[in-house]
Amino acid sequence: MRKIVIAGNWKMYKTQAEALEFLLGFTTLVNEAPDEREIVLCGPFTALGTLSKNLHGSRIRIGAQNIHWEESGAYTGEISGPMLTEYSIRYVVVGHSERRQYFGETDETVNLRLKAAQRHGLTPILCVGETKEQRDAGETESLIMMQLEKDLVGVDQTQLVIAYEPIWAIGTGETCESSEANRVIGLIRSQLTHADVPIQYGGSVKPGNIDEIMAQPEIDGALVGGASLEPESFARIVNYVA
Ligand code: 13P
Repeated sequence: MRKIVIAGNWKMYKTQAEALEFLLGFTTLVNEAPDEREIVLCGPFTALGTLSKNLHGSRIRIGAQNIHWEESGAYTGEISGPMLTEYSIRYVVVGHSERRQYFGETDETVNLRLKAAQRHGLTPILCVGETKEQRDAGETESLIMMQLEKDLVGVDQTQLVIAYEPIWAIGTGETCESSEANRVIGLIRSQLTHADVPIQYGGSVKPGNIDEIMAQPEIDGALVGGASLEPESFARIVNYVA
């Protein structure tokens, strides 16, 4: 059976104090969530220590937002596997569109980061998705197929989560129709060699649309930006009504 993974991507939000305040509200609100739902908070690097210390023994998993492929070296501004695994981190977001768009991430570096994450026992959350222009030009399918083909070379699909995040739906309030997200996610699954890879939808997921999104048969979870910043809204997403 495929795992359900509901992950919050905090992006460049939350100081340590703010992360702690979030946890105070959030942890009790998700106590009753069904056991088979994996709850993940992907914080900025500086909040990982606070998350790790305060989530010890909790069911809530911690994720990072990037990982370099070398163990150490002259790579100013990067972070390595051993630096992340010092904290009890299970997941790492790789290839987010914001990194591809603004920080020169390519399919080649995404592939190196995915393999590095797995070498260190972390489960990468690989993000794929098209721009508005690519969608309008009818290139959605071919673009995503190409991303998967390049990104997944040598990657162990038994230790992987994929997030379909149409770029035009990120932070815009413009959610992809859940049936369309379901279709693209089905297409992604048809390209995989391992049938049980959890595939999330991401892009303007909110308390008001999560139930409908999770009702889609191909969708195994969500990668949530803005709505993961407030304890009440992210808890409502985790506690979606099936
Ligand atoms: P929003 O939920 O803010 O649209 O962000 C989605 C996202 O990029 C998650 O990684």
